[in-house]
This record gives sequence, structure tokens and C-alpha cells, in this order.
Amino acid sequence: MRDFLRKILISKWSKVVVFLLCLSPFVYLAWPLIAFLAWQVEPRRFGANPVEYVQHFTGDWTLRFLLITLSVTPLRKLLNVPDLIRFRRMLGLFAFFYVCLHFLTYIWPDQNFDLHGMWKDVAKRPFVTVGFLGFVLLIPLAITSSKGWIRRLGGNRWQNLHRLIYISGLCGVLHYYWLVKSNHRLPLLYAAILAVLLLYRLGTSLLKPRPQPSPAAAAVQR
Ligand code: HEM
Repeated sequence: MRDFLRKILISKWSKVVVFLLCLSPFVYLAWPLIAFLAWQVEPRRFGANPVEYVQHFTGDWTLRFLLITLSVTPLRKLLNVPDLIRFRRMLGLFAFFYVCLHFLTYIWPDQNFDLHGMWKDVAKRPFVTVGFLGFVLLIPLAITSSKGWIRRLGGNRWQNLHRLIYISGLCGVLHYYWLVKSNHRLPLLYAAILAVLLLYRLGTSLLKPRPQPSPAAAAVQR
């Protein structure tokens, strides 16, 4: 069974399938717009406030992709399928793609590209402040996601930088919790998933055996 799963995961089509799956929320979102432009079919799904619909849809998918990306390492260890790592970069980049769309719906139809107004809003409303921070933290991660950047920064520095995704996830969950006025069930569910992932990471890094100092270094420490 495991060999079969491994074969599927390392096949060259698996990345295409995962890519299409990650793109499907975007297609679902864009399809009514295409139908409207091509055949003047009214986009009924968007309801009375299409901007709000798109904002919520893209916000939800950003948070989901952040959590899916963070689940890759625990899943590959718990299920013993190391090949899952092949998809982590793509999943992270999709989180960034959806947050860019989310931010675009904010600065364009919401703020009308009024940068001054946007800054005032970011400073005034705490839920926008943390959302903005979560977005900004993902920018260096998206830029340095390539193999070239791993080489340039070195494995350890790259890994430390990419731990920012946990802070971004925290900002995303807090942002969602603060903006919801009643029924905090869903933000709390996302917060619980993030807490489990964080605790797992903390646990594995605490339990990881530390490299033993060489006898010479140990003598110097004494
Ligand atoms: C990591 C970054 C972010 C995540 C994970 C995130 C996630 C979310 C989620 C889950 C929602 C609610 C969706 C729903 O109710 O179904 C939302 C709404 C919203 N987000 Fe974000 N967001 C992020 C960044 C941002 C940024 C950078 C801005 C703008 C500067 C922003 C502005 C908004 C606004 C205005 C709403 C709608 C609020 C309302 O309807 O009252 N978000 N976001």
C-alpha cells in the first residue's frame, strides 16, 4: 500500500493534479465572472455584495492553504511518506496567491487604491493590522521559496526564515477571530488546528537529539 502511494506521489502527474486541485477554488470564483463577460449570465452566487463575497472566499482559502502547508511536515512524518515534501512549496505559493487576491479585493474595490486611506485603516482597525502583518510576512517566504534561494541562504538560515509562516498563520487566525462579530466556532477551529501543528513542531524540535560537542569543544566549555 505504502509503495503504491509512493509511486503515485513521485509520478510526474502528481504535481499537475495537485496544482489543478489548488487552482480549483480560483476557477470556482472566476467562472461566474467569465460567464458574465462571455454570455452575460448574471453571477447570482456572489449575492448582494460581490466584493464581500470575494473577500471572504479568498480569506478563507488563504487560511486553509496556510494550514495545509503547515500540515505537510507532520503528515509526512506521522504517515511515513517523505515524498509529500514535493508539494509543500506549491501549497505555500498557493497560500500566497490567495492572499494576494484577498489583498487586491481590499485595496481595489474596497479602498479604491487610496493608499493613505489604507494606511489609516491598517493603523486603526486591529483585525486589519494583524491581517496586513500576516500578508507582509509571507512576501519574503514567497520570494525565497526557490532552490536557488535555499542555496544562497544556506539550509539553516532558510529554515529559520521560513518559520515565519507560523507567525503568519497566527496573524491569520487572530485576524479572522477579531473580524467575526458573533459565532466564533470556525475561527476557533482554525486556531485549534494551528495550535496542534505548533505544538507538534515544538515537541519534535525539543525531542530532537542535540549534536554532541566534540571532546575538544567539551573540554573548552569546561
Ligand atoms: C495571512 C493573511 C490573511 C489571512 C489568513 C486572512 C484571512 C481572512 C479570513 C479567513 C477572513 C474571513 C472570511 C470569512 O468570513 O469567511 C478575512 C476577511 C477579511 N480580510 Fe483577511 N486575511 C489575511 C490578510 C488580510 C489583509 C492583508 C487584509 C487587508 C489589509 C485583509 C482584510 C480583510 C477584510 C477587509 C476582510 C473582511 C472583513 C469583514 O467582512 O468585516 N486580510 N480574511
